[in-house]
Amino acid sequence: MGRTPTRVGVVGYGYWGSKHVRVLNSLPDVEVTVIDQDEQRLREAMSSFPSVRIATDLADELESQDAVVVATPPGVHAPIALQALKAGLHTLVEKPLATSVEEAESLVEAARSADVRLMVGHTFEYNPAVWKLKEIIASGELGRVLYIDAARLSLGRYQHDCNVIWDLAPHDISIVSYLLDEVPQTASVWAQRNVGGQHEDVAYIRLEFEQSGAPAFVHLSWLHPEKVRRVTVVGEKKMAIYNDMSDNERIRIYDVGVDPAQVDEGASHGFPVSYRFGDIVSPFIPFQEPLLVQDGHFVECVRTGREPQTPGERGLDIVRVLAATDVSTATGGPATIPSTLEVAGNGTGNGSVRLSGVRP
Ligand SMILES: NC(=O)c1ccc[n+]([C@@H]2O[C@H](COP(=O)([O-])OP(=O)(O)OC[C@H]3O[C@@H](n4cnc5c(N)ncnc54)[C@H](O)[C@@H]3O)[C@@H](O)[C@H]2O)c1
Repeated sequence: MGRTPTRVGVVGYGYWGSKHVRVLNSLPDVEVTVIDQDEQRLREAMSSFPSVRIATDLADELESQDAVVVATPPGVHAPIALQALKAGLHTLVEKPLATSVEEAESLVEAARSADVRLMVGHTFEYNPAVWKLKEIIASGELGRVLYIDAARLSLGRYQHDCNVIWDLAPHDISIVSYLLDEVPQTASVWAQRNVGGQHEDVAYIRLEFEQSGAPAFVHLSWLHPEKVRRVTVVGEKKMAIYNDMSDNERIRIYDVGVDPAQVDEGASHGFPVSYRFGDIVSPFIPFQEPLLVQDGHFVECVRTGREPQTPGERGLDIVRVLAATDVSTATGGPATIPSTLEVAGNGTGNGSVRLSGVRP
């Protein structure tokens, strides 16, 4: 006898929701219902995936689903997720979990009250290349991390309801905090609006990580001629670049570095440093589609009751960082990000964030 199918409703069949539908539909014993208020989108879903059910309103589906994936624009993540959680449905919400700290907290609280699993779609924490980069850092091969530089640039998909930071930075903030095992304490932002007049489309963020002592710099743009998806980790011994645009060399480890020059009183020329050059090595990383890993993990959590590796609390932490970037953009100065412990102490949150061992 087969297993009872797990019924998953995907709310929002746009650019990204259609990918959720593809991967969920490929998993054994999963029945997918596509829910979108736009009937044209539903026709497209039926044409691409004839086996899925369709619906226009989540309210009509609350009784007939076990779980929901929210892949609508960020501004409506919270109300839709809240509706699902209150109906007792396990819920996976795309990044960012919500568009304010208060909303994100209400989702974490609702999941706790209903005793259902809340997960956030931090896709890069399910990416084998990011796992590999973390392994390389943890092994000590790079030496002490001096700084991390991340860039996510292209002629991007301008969003109606958020700026480039809320759209793209959840990826980089989740990657760097996962790599360093730490949520940043301070964010400083320079951001500019160039097109459309409503939302910033280019931003540079500096994040401070007290324990690791290594800052991270994140450059985001919807207004850039080249598609760049890159994370560079500069260590005292070696440096590594994770280039998500590369097919077969997504990580390269550079055995290069710079050391202070030996003091030579007599020399009046030359560099104040000496350079080391060595091999460039690219480790083999078996390909697994991150979204398939992520959604497969969600379905497993729904079936077993296991806590997801990126629970709502993790999404809440990243929303706190995003909210701090708004403060910094407005004031021009650094903004403090309340730590999970401080927030828990205030009784306004809970946040038990686990940043290691993320592999499902
Ligand atoms: N994890 C990733 O790598 C990744 C990549 C891209 C987008 N995303 C996220 O996915 C989400 C969707 O982004 P997108 O680019 O696919 O957007 P989109 O605009 O292409 O699609 C959104 C869809 O949601 C539907 N929708 C809107 N409000 C709705 C409602 N109240 N009920 C039902 N349907 C509704 C729209 O009709 C549309 O079909 C966003 O949260 C975005 O941040 C994640």
